[in-house]
Amino acid sequence: MASRRKLPSSGPAREALRAKGQFWTPDWVAEAMVAYALGHGAQSLFDPAVGAGAFLRAGVKVAAEMGRRIRLLGTEIDPDALLQAEQTGLSQKDLAGVQLRDFLLDPPPGPFPAIAANPPYIRHHRLAPDVKAKAKAFAARLIQRPIDGRAGLHIYFLLRALELLQHGGRLAFIMPADTCEGVFAPALWEWISRHYRLDAVVTFDPAATPFPGVDTNPVIFLISKEPPRPSVAWARCLAGDSASLKRWALSGLPRVSSPGLEVVSRDLAEALSTGLSRTPQHDGQRGLALADVATALRGIATGANQFFFLTARRAAELGIPEEFLRPAIGRTRDVPGDVIADDLLQKLEAQGRPTRLLSLDGRPARAFPKTVQSYIEQGVRMGLPERPLIAGRRPWYRMESRRVPPILFAYLGRRNARFVLNKAGVVPLTGFLCVYPRQEDAESLQRLWRALTHPTTLRNLSLVGKSYGSGAIKVEPRALERLPFSLEAVSEAGLQPLLLSLGV
Ligand SMILES: C[S@@+](CC[C@H](N)C(=O)[O-])C[C@H]1O[C@@H](n2cnc3c(N)ncnc32)[C@H](O)[C@@H]1O
Repeated sequence: MASRRKLPSSGPAREALRAKGQFWTPDWVAEAMVAYALGHGAQSLFDPAVGAGAFLRAGVKVAAEMGRRIRLLGTEIDPDALLQAEQTGLSQKDLAGVQLRDFLLDPPPGPFPAIAANPPYIRHHRLAPDVKAKAKAFAARLIQRPIDGRAGLHIYFLLRALELLQHGGRLAFIMPADTCEGVFAPALWEWISRHYRLDAVVTFDPAATPFPGVDTNPVIFLISKEPPRPSVAWARCLAGDSASLKRWALSGLPRVSSPGLEVVSRDLAEALSTGLSRTPQHDGQRGLALADVATALRGIATGANQFFFLTARRAAELGIPEEFLRPAIGRTRDVPGDVIADDLLQKLEAQGRPTRLLSLDGRPARAFPKTVQSYIEQGVRMGLPERPLIAGRRPWYRMESRRVPPILFAYLGRRNARFVLNKAGVVPLTGFLCVYPRQEDAESLQRLWRALTHPTTLRNLSLVGKSYGSGAIKVEPRALERLPFSLEAVSEAGLQPLLLSLGV
């Protein structure tokens, strides 16, 4: 059965699934979504991306529990997926209303009273250029403004499905959190919230994720084609594979919690500005942000770490003088704590980890010492000057420059995102962001450091970052600058004098 199907964790099988966007929805989630979609008495259920049929199977079951029979409708582009649907409990008769058809570019006429889907999650850089161009043109026509090119296929699926939703109809979509965290999100939700009613949003605690082992943070959107309302039910599912989600949907999405399911009522404007995937933001958290006291920049992108990022021993073997090397840190894993001191670099060297960044300036190759010249020639033989990032540099071996940041931010990884005090004067590669305080005297730095490592500040990272599976978050430089400090963090870290002197 689809929900019990184990996803291949790596390798070609996983890659093939990813290319087609095929991740099956477990029954406990599909049934809850369908319970909402059918809850107003619809006589049919439409799934634009049928796959192995999780929603249509749920439709048969939930409709029977409601004492009705419904027509099953759908589209799917992969005939093999439909064969799987037959093997997982749907008869040919059940599937008679499913068409082998591209839902996005060749949609059925509609409109539909009930739509449920887990659309293919195919990120923008994997979309064929002609598909992307057509999808963008469709979206721009529908929402009357261009949609940012970083929207994946699932975003266009949602828009197409909303377009085909009947008046009074209901739609339930399970989507990755980038739907409300991506750069395209504000335009998308501004349009949706003006034309539809967002009845509820369901998020999942990492322990309750419907897609274990898949690196996305899923969110369910329950939307009806009714006049908008100023508030939305916002739920967090704490227990996986439980009946509470379906019970909640069947009982009309009441704004009360039950075991395994926390539910709150949220002001829609607040929920949209905070981000629908994020927990409600209280007023106390608005106000001071990192940008008031510091700036953020990404770490150095070398374009070829194996060439530019060396162990001290290798640099010595190559005879590269120290003046062309900078102490550097590459992986977040190489920094176990929240301070980088000289002894850490020594420890990494002892483990054979690189700690020296080849930092050549833009002078002609012949102006470097002989040893450096021959290493540059080695790079040419390796074809480095043609590599994507490097090809844009003049000359190709010139390294990006960064002032040593007093604080680093480790922004992605299974381990919690964290701020790291840079006592070893290293420059970081792209696993980190550089944080440059506006005032760098020791006292101000200490105070800022205390504020950054305050538990409420670390919690607030989820307000500005993009969330992935298992609770991991990724925060880009501009987003980090929006990181809010709580009043508690400001007062406990003693930031007030710093704020006064900066005129904040
Ligand atoms: C994430 S799976 C979901 C399947 C199923 N509804 C479920 O939740 O278990 C998405 C499905 O969409 C199909 N698909 C991809 N592009 C499509 C398109 N343009 N039109 C219709 N189906 C498409 C894929 O083959 C895949 O089976």
